[in-house]
Amino acid sequence: MLTSFFERYLPDIDRYMRTVVNSQQSQPSDMGIMLQYALGWVDQNGDPYNIPTGKRIRPVLLLLCVEAAGGNWKAALPAAAAVELLHNFSLIHDDIQDDSPLRHNRPTVWKVWGEANAINIGDALFTMAYDSLQRLSEYSVPDQILIQIWRIFNKTMLELTRGQHLDMRFEHQPTVKTDEYISMITGKSAALLSACAEMGALIGSGDAQLAHLYADFGLNLGIAFQIHDDILGIWGNPSVTGKSAATDILSRKKSLPVLYGLDNSAELVGIYQRPTFTQQDVDEAIKALNDVNAQDFTRHSEEGYYNTALASIEAANPQGEASEWIMQLVNSLFERNY
Ligand code: IPE
Ligand code: IPE
Ligand code: MG
Ligand code: MG
Repeated sequence: MLTSFFERYLPDIDRYMRTVVNSQQSQPSDMGIMLQYALGWVDQNGDPYNIPTGKRIRPVLLLLCVEAAGGNWKAALPAAAAVELLHNFSLIHDDIQDDSPLRHNRPTVWKVWGEANAINIGDALFTMAYDSLQRLSEYSVPDQILIQIWRIFNKTMLELTRGQHLDMRFEHQPTVKTDEYISMITGKSAALLSACAEMGALIGSGDAQLAHLYADFGLNLGIAFQIHDDILGIWGNPSVTGKSAATDILSRKKSLPVLYGLDNSAELVGIYQRPTFTQQDVDEAIKALNDVNAQDFTRHSEEGYYNTALASIEAANPQGEASEWIMQLVNSLFERNY
C-alpha cells in the first residue's frame, strides 16, 4: 500500500516520532528497547528491525487532511507523531486487556516483558504523545487553534477509555444491541480517526466549521475501519494481519459478525453458553457464523459507513492532489486484508 502519499509523509513522520522518543536522555537502555520494539524500530534484543509493522494510517490521514484543507503539512508533524504515539500506547494496553499474544507478527510487549512492564511502556508512550502535541507551539500554529487541538486530543483519549471499557464489559454480556456496539467502536477506534481528520483540517485551515465536516468523515471512516477489523479478526489470515485469528472468539468479543450470529444462529447461541472455549469451540463458532453468512452481513454494514464517509468528505470540498489521495486511502482501507 506504499503509494506516493505514504512515501511523501512517512520518512518525516518517523523522524519526528524518533525525535520525541529519543529526547528523554535519562531513559535506561532496556526501557528504550521496549519503547522502540513497540514502535517497530528494533527487535527484542535492540537490534534494528527493518520489516514495517504499523500501517501509520492515522498520521498519514491527519497530514492529508491538512493539505486538503489548504495548509502546509510540515507544520502539523508534531500532531501527526502525537496521534501515532497515542495509537501505539493504546495497542500495548489493548493487548494486555485482550490477552493477545501476537501483534505485527511478533510477540506483544506484555508477552516479551510481562504485563507490569507493558503497562509502564504504554504510560511512557501516552505521555510522549502529549509531549509531541505540545511541540506544535514551536511551529506557526496560533494559540487559539492549539487550545482547540488540545481539547480534541483529551476528548478523544476519554472516548478511547470509554470504548475500551464497554468492549471489555460486553465480553461478559450475553447480548449487545447494534447501537451499543456502534457506540463502543466509536469510542475505542473511530474517535481517534475522527480526531486525526478534524485536527488536520483545523491546522490546515483554522476553520472550526470546516474541521467539523472532516471530523464527521473521520468518524464514519473509523467505524467502517473497525468493522473491517472485526471481519479480519475472524476470517483474516494471521500471517497477513500479524494477529492471532482465534483471540476475538476465545475472549467472546461482541464483534459485529458475532452479534449478527447470536441473533440468527441458534447453534452459535448454544456454543456461547458453554463455560469455556477450546480451539474446537472456536472452529464450531466460525462454522455457525459461516452458515448464516455473517461475513456478508458485516461487509454490507461496513460499506454503508464507507459511503457515508465518502459523502462527508465530498461535502468538505477537499483541495488539490490530497483530495484524490484521501479517496485512494479510503478505497485501500476498504479492500485491505492486513
Ligand atoms: C489496530 O489499528 C487497532 C484498531 C483500531 C482496529 P491498525 O490496524 O491501524 O494498527 P497498526 O498501527 O497498523 O498496527
Ligand atoms: C482496537 O481494539 C482499539 C484499540 C486498540 C484501542 P481491538 O482490540 O478491536 O483491535 P485489535 O484487533 O486488537 O488490533
Ligand atoms: Mg485487541
Ligand atoms: Mg480490544
